[in-house]
Amino acid sequence: MDLGLRGRTAVITGGSTGIGKAAALGFAAEGVNLVLLSRTKETLEAAADEIRAAHNVEVFAIPTDITDSEAVNKAAAMTAERFGAVHILVNNAGHRMRRLDRQIFWDDDDWLADINGKTVGMLRVLRAFLPQMVTDGTGSIINVGGIAGTSIYENALTHGLNNSAMHHITGYMAYDFAAENIRVNAVIPGLIATEWRQDWADMMAEKLNVSRDEFLAQYCAQQGIIAGRWGQMKEVADTIVFLASDRASYINGTRIAVDGGFGVNPRVSA
Ligand SMILES: NC(=O)c1ccc[n+]([C@@H]2O[C@H](COP(=O)([O-])OP(=O)(O)OC[C@H]3O[C@@H](n4cnc5c(N)ncnc54)[C@H](OP(=O)(O)O)[C@@H]3O)[C@@H](O)[C@H]2O)c1
Repeated sequence: MDLGLRGRTAVITGGSTGIGKAAALGFAAEGVNLVLLSRTKETLEAAADEIRAAHNVEVFAIPTDITDSEAVNKAAAMTAERFGAVHILVNNAGHRMRRLDRQIFWDDDDWLADINGKTVGMLRVLRAFLPQMVTDGTGSIINVGGIAGTSIYENALTHGLNNSAMHHITGYMAYDFAAENIRVNAVIPGLIATEWRQDWADMMAEKLNVSRDEFLAQYCAQQGIIAGRWGQMKEVADTIVFLASDRASYINGTRIAVDGGFGVNPRVSA
């Protein structure tokens, strides 16, 4: 399927690793120029180099902390100067749970830091980049939420708040950004084999004294992941790239789960 994305420009937050980098590679394969935002300069530049080596597109890496409004506004101004218009924005930056203790006992600073990092970070990016997004109907925003926003996960209070906020804001923005002729959708990844998740699986397997495959098989069965496996980053990236294309032109304000069937919430009978 020709997605017709060649020559467009995509901004991806958290584009240096995991799902964000996979989405960047997916867009680059379609001929989309990229602006990648994340905090750690070395990781960001390494990702940009890898993408440039694999695909003939422009990759502009701007080290940016999305908790810093000034830095986000500066990144938007630099993007405008380099590319003029932005067609695609992927709000993906986030992080794993910082601690596994009961979050109800966290102090205000820890709660607010989590919400500032994902939910408010996304709002900052939307506010800064909206003025330079195209209004010709090719504009598309994809927000990467998560299953902690649709299910109750132990010790995932702020994670759940962030992801459900992300899903809610998606609908809100689809309505609001109709003024700019921009579609807004959310992707909800399930258990995805990102770099940190691979380390997590190895750690859990070691702790339980089983192989990584055995641990994952058990975990997927226990979690009700119908596919019986974790998802590959590319499987999420492909969905993001499709949603950004005109092939998805009538998909707006919705949430697409890429979770191997986790969302049907199966129960095993006794
Ligand atoms: N992996 C999964 O199984 C899974 C499942 C459901 C949902 N998700 C969601 O998918 C998204 C990506 O997850 P991932 O697993 O791919 O994560 P990851 O590999 O840890 O990547 C996170 C990215 O976000 C960047 N980032 C974090 N805080 C930032 C900040 N304040 N400003 C700018 N960039 C920041 C990181 O770079 P720096 O640290 O250098 O800034 C990195 O590029 C997240 O929103 C996550 O909640 C993941």
